[in-house]
Amino acid sequence: MLIINELSKMKKIRTAILISGRGSNMESLIKACQAANFPATINLVIADRNSALGVKIAGDYGIDNSVIDYKKFAKREDFEKEIAKKIDSYNCQIICLAGFMRVLSAWFVNRYQGRIINIHPSLLPAFKGANAVEDAFLAKVQYSGCSTHFVSEEIDSGKIIKQARVKIKRGDSLEEVKMKILAKEHIIYPQTLKKVSRLFLSDEINDF
Ligand code: GRF
Repeated sequence: MLIINELSKMKKIRTAILISGRGSNMESLIKACQAANFPATINLVIADRNSALGVKIAGDYGIDNSVIDYKKFAKREDFEKEIAKKIDSYNCQIICLAGFMRVLSAWFVNRYQGRIINIHPSLLPAFKGANAVEDAFLAKVQYSGCSTHFVSEEIDSGKIIKQARVKIKRGDSLEEVKMKILAKEHIIYPQTLKKVSRLFLSDEINDF
């Protein structure tokens, strides 16, 4: 009983997730946060388009969610201001990008400096950009994988937090490689959020 009370009092890092699509990484984060001793909670999911399937999944888990449609804004700045307003209204300390397909401006990155995390389907710094799995596959590399990293102004270039390696076997199809990498993403993204949240909670983030 004492342990349960202590866990319910545990301070947790409030987190927002930004998505554009199916949201499988988002779901892996939501599931991880359901554990009583996980140091973060998912408080908000924002999608940049109506077609993002992850929005329904977030709703099914009872997570507050909204669509802020980038097409409705003439300027990226206005779109990002709307996102920031929403995130701030939920007092989120960490923002996880999970298949979020917009490039964030220097203004947004600086506003949340050191608090935005992304997952990318390659072993960074190799194969940056939107077609990372295809590019690695076509390059016939023996190993690829996935990386989590802090978001900096330059795309896919911030400090790496975790990586997982995947062997590409001769005869693997592109689809098989995508699935193998995605399965690893679902492991390292929750591990990453746990690690960063713990550092925030212990004020050690500057030592990272
Ligand atoms: C993942 O492969 C992730 O690495 C990349 O976009 C994809 C998103 O997939 N940034 P999902 O929406 O999380 O299923």
